[in-house]
Amino acid sequence: MKILAINSSPRTGGGSKTELMLNNLIEGMRDAGAEVDVVNLREKKIKNCIGCFACWTKTPGHCVHKDDMTRELFPKWLEADLVVYATPLYYHLMNSAMSRFRERTLPAIQPFFEKSDDGKTFHPLRHKIPAAVWLSVCGFPEESEFDALSSYLNRTRHKGETLAAEIYRSAAETISHPFFKEKATDVLDATKQAGRELVKSMAISPGTIARIRQPLVDPKLFAEMGNLFWKTCINEKVTPKEFEKKHMIPRPDSIESFMWLFPVGINSAAAGNRKIILQFDFSGQTEGSCCFIIDNGKIKAKKEPEANPDITIKTPFDVWMDIMTRKADGQQMFMEQKYTVTGDIGLMIQLFTKKGNK
Ligand SMILES: Cc1cc2nc3c(=O)[nH]c(=O)nc-3n(C[C@H](O)[C@H](O)[C@H](O)COP(=O)(O)O)c2cc1C
Repeated sequence: MKILAINSSPRTGGGSKTELMLNNLIEGMRDAGAEVDVVNLREKKIKNCIGCFACWTKTPGHCVHKDDMTRELFPKWLEADLVVYATPLYYHLMNSAMSRFRERTLPAIQPFFEKSDDGKTFHPLRHKIPAAVWLSVCGFPEESEFDALSSYLNRTRHKGETLAAEIYRSAAETISHPFFKEKATDVLDATKQAGRELVKSMAISPGTIARIRQPLVDPKLFAEMGNLFWKTCINEKVTPKEFEKKHMIPRPDSIESFMWLFPVGINSAAAGNRKIILQFDFSGQTEGSCCFIIDNGKIKAKKEPEANPDITIKTPFDVWMDIMTRKADGQQMFMEQKYTVTGDIGLMIQLFTKKGNK
């Protein structure tokens, strides 16, 4: 099976969740024996359709433009058995790069008006056009973000064009966050599986779709973590890409948000088989306590203090947030007695340093 995968995300590498999902889908397709050609539209020169209808009249089937679409992509598109259209969701639809590509497939259509069985007018096709799989990712957590795209795709489908599958992943920006690793790994494995299934049967089973769409994050936690992330980007004047490149951490602004974020940086393996209780007593503008129970590689956060913690850190909240977000050096702050530690300091250092925290 000849597959053409068209990626319209302007972002690259780890930054693009469209690309991440597409790469997994393609891996599954190749596993199942398909020949997959990948085209990144950001690398191609494709002019806008100018609506001259020369491709319907003067040069039937041929566009007036001379660019990457006419020279390379349109012939490849016609030859494919299946095309994967992978687009980030922009304002509830495909992005402009994908839309431009789609408009330029007009030469595959004839100008005449015909009626389908349900009474709708349509243009007949000039060529047999490839079956389609749509893949899209979006930032918001709600599945309904894709409703407009899905309804659009089902309405604009040409008569005789197969829409083999729609693959949608909401809250996609969380996929590469270590916090959601377990579920995200399953989503990506399911996307690979979807690739294998498509090659074998031109369809994706409901079970695989459900795994791809599984909720990754509680919507309330999503909004609070997301807001902390954006506030940190604004305060530090960095783009999301720079944030990721610098391995930055969103700065907690409450004990609750500290409790969600702190475990990501802990090297729980350093505790070995021991059950460790690590407690924070915060002072300053944000006062209160919380503790982390590290047991068998798992970390549980608790708001109530424990009677006999193994390690207790007494610190002004802001000082620890500076250390956690690497604005201040933990050892330096300790020497300057900005915070105190009681209990197993050696273990504390192991818990914090192996993942780059101080
Ligand atoms: C111009 C623009 C419009 C967007 N519109 C939506 C939207 O309607 N709904 C949504 O949930 N996310 C929206 N997003 C977020 C993207 O879908 C999200 O960041 C996605 O991960 C982008 O894909 P990429 O990672 O491949 O670049 C929008 C982003 C941009 C830049």
